[in-house]
Amino acid sequence: MIEFAANQRQRQISASDFSFDRTADVRRLHYMLSAYAETPLVRLDRGIYVKDESKRFGIKAFKGLGGIYAMFRIICRELHLNPAETTLDTLRESPYPDRIRRMEFITTTDGNHGKGVSWAAGILGCKAHVYMPKGTVEARAQAIRGAGNADAAITNMRYDDCVAWTRELAEAKGWLLIQDTSWPGYEQVPLWIMQGYTTLFYEAVSQMKERPTHIFLQAGVGAMAGAIAAAALETCPDRPPIIATVEPTEAACFYESFERADGMPHMAAGSGGTMMAGLNCAVPCTLAWDILGGCAAGGFACADEVTCHGMRLLSKAGITAGESGAVTAGLVDLLLQNSDYEGIRKQLRLGPDAVILLINTEGDTDPENYRRMMMMAGDGEASAD
Ligand SMILES: Cc1ncc(COP(=O)(O)O)c(C=O)c1O
Repeated sequence: MIEFAANQRQRQISASDFSFDRTADVRRLHYMLSAYAETPLVRLDRGIYVKDESKRFGIKAFKGLGGIYAMFRIICRELHLNPAETTLDTLRESPYPDRIRRMEFITTTDGNHGKGVSWAAGILGCKAHVYMPKGTVEARAQAIRGAGNADAAITNMRYDDCVAWTRELAEAKGWLLIQDTSWPGYEQVPLWIMQGYTTLFYEAVSQMKERPTHIFLQAGVGAMAGAIAAAALETCPDRPPIIATVEPTEAACFYESFERADGMPHMAAGSGGTMMAGLNCAVPCTLAWDILGGCAAGGFACADEVTCHGMRLLSKAGITAGESGAVTAGLVDLLLQNSDYEGIRKQLRLGPDAVILLINTEGDTDPENYRRMMMMAGDGEASAD
């Protein structure tokens, strides 16, 4: 059910783009938003803290943090405005609204990034085109259309093929690509998106009474995990927390890359069959690999049962956690209570004094499946009210 690959090429890295000071403009933008509020940090037993991003901006996932910051930066670039001096009010002054209205953004998403982009387009006054991989449930496409200002279509491609296709479409149509993963030659926008995610970490640091010794981070393309790991390193350079990535077994590109141990990022070998839609990505983000390939202690690959377990556990604690949000909670619970995992606990120095930070990255973004999971609650697990 759980596999772990240690990172045999762990090394010191510098990640200053994600330091508190270098991300001040990110928080300046987020604080300007009327929807901005710190999300809750919930303390569970056994030294586990859960940062609950299901409450972010009313869009049930953390992704809007990166989407709106990158969109803001692209708009500033297109209008030749200095982002450090530009406010939302500046963008509402003539002649900017007319010019922003004509801007069209494009992206691929497995759900939450697209919803964040649509929401951001609604706030900033532009339009977005969002494409989704095959197998996406229609409720996710509808949520994107309803979040702000985007059209959304479900394609018959896998996530990574869809990314390549939207990249070509962006060029053909002259639309602005706002993709939450990087590749050689496409790094500036994903860097802004990743910097956008740091707000959740810096909130968590100010909410926690102690520093985390361990952080377990879900990885799809790894942009979120890379950003949080980098911000954590910058915050605690003397006592950096132990970082581990967590992926679905059938789409485990970081696990696969740690397993191969040649220092290069590798595609996931799995079938892509998982209910963790947000983590169903086969190709690592290059910027994220540069960070995690250096500083992560290793990566986990988890069967869907692990996240089902996490969803029910978190529900008992009053947290609504979707498929991609709950997997770290399910994993940590199994690691801590099951003697089969003693070897992994030792490798990760996961003892009784550990202070563990987890991020519930989404709420019930597929409400139908969420209800099903709660109804199937097994032995000793409570169902949702
Ligand atoms: C809920 C949720 N959690 C985690 C992730 C993983 O983020 P990343 O693709 O940056 O690794 C995603 C990505 O879409 C997501 O939607």
